[in-house]
Amino acid sequence: MDATLLITTDYQSGFGNEFASEALPGALPKGQNSPQKVAYGLYAEHLSGTAFTTPRDQNLRTWFYRMCPSVKHLPFQQVSNGLLRSAPFDEMTATPNQMRWDPLPIPTKPTDLIEGLVTLMGAGEVGMSGLAVHIYTANSSMDDRYFYNADGEMLFVPQQGRIKLLTEMGILEISPNEIAVIPRGVKYRAELPDGSSRGYVLENYGVPMRLPNLGAIGSNGLANPRDFLAPVASFEEREGQFKLTTKFGGNLWDADIGHSPLDVVAWHGNYTPYKYDLANFNVISTVSFDHIDPSIYTVLTSPSDTEGVANVDFVIFPPRWVVAENTYRPPWYHRNIMSEYMGLIKGQYDGRKEGFVPGGSSLHNCMSPHGNDADVFEAASQADLEPIYLDGTMAFMFETRHLYKPTKFAQETPALQSDYFECWQGLKNHFNGNL
Ligand SMILES: [Fe+2]
Repeated sequence: MDATLLITTDYQSGFGNEFASEALPGALPKGQNSPQKVAYGLYAEHLSGTAFTTPRDQNLRTWFYRMCPSVKHLPFQQVSNGLLRSAPFDEMTATPNQMRWDPLPIPTKPTDLIEGLVTLMGAGEVGMSGLAVHIYTANSSMDDRYFYNADGEMLFVPQQGRIKLLTEMGILEISPNEIAVIPRGVKYRAELPDGSSRGYVLENYGVPMRLPNLGAIGSNGLANPRDFLAPVASFEEREGQFKLTTKFGGNLWDADIGHSPLDVVAWHGNYTPYKYDLANFNVISTVSFDHIDPSIYTVLTSPSDTEGVANVDFVIFPPRWVVAENTYRPPWYHRNIMSEYMGLIKGQYDGRKEGFVPGGSSLHNCMSPHGNDADVFEAASQADLEPIYLDGTMAFMFETRHLYKPTKFAQETPALQSDYFECWQGLKNHFNGNL
């Protein structure tokens, strides 16, 4: 196989910036987007991530300067979806029961990142609004296979093992406690440098993730724009017999392709993959009493067409000081209109003692009550209220306005903890009308 690889892992800082990057000097045209002749004999190609007429502050597009236009591939043929599922998620009835899963085992046979996707739940309509929650368990790199998702953007949350994402715009490598977002339509392949790998994927059918407004917080705080990193141009010139897989309309399709689609020598635009280290999140919370709503932990949000009601929020629970006075410090018991899927990257979540482990996850759907188990309640109600530091932990939530519909797999897998409800059965009635 004839291969020329130019591997660059530099990054450009900023969120949604108008980035410009060239892997060869002069490859990027100056002053116009599609000159009659592009330097180095490259083709110009436009990728739009929003409708052309989307308002300027939300408009996303990128210009590629590449060896071969994307249109050169053989026809797609539909292939098996494996355990990947998509909207409308109607194979099972949704349940109001609280649900919790153990980590899914990592396969023993060679499995790449896309083959290893298993869908737990989702809602909405592909390409419009809604989302899907997937787990990946994998151990092999995608060497001769490339992928793009026409249905939504993909947010990767690795829990075990690094992922090296080789994309049209360049290379992103993420480790557990970092995340990466690949925009809808962007082609990539994934290498797994550590072999056995597991993590979570949010597939967002709605408008692309953006930073939340900060309101009264002011101009700094939460996830700061400069901590988001986009790749720099990096191409592979490679010919052979490759496969281009797409998720399109909820199904997987394969096409034969005779060259690497990662042949972009230069690009400019604001529609890019990006990564973010969750350790950079500036946690803001109370320094007097009570809790701030967990929206204060929002890293990224996909708004809906109703102001303040997210299609999905990506929320984290990082290491932080807990200093509230006269306050029941773990999360309060609650029932929410928004539906909550939670995962754990490392450590222990402060609301649970057992059962919620790294790589596992839970679902508390719309209006389904939840909160601490009996032991955590008793301990927290009696604890000395000294400042404490919650260390070595990172939990996260995909919170949505939609009612999550768990898949058949999610409702029938042995990883589903059938005894989850038991953790609340020891809660006592402490009421004493004479006090
Ligand atoms: Fe909750």
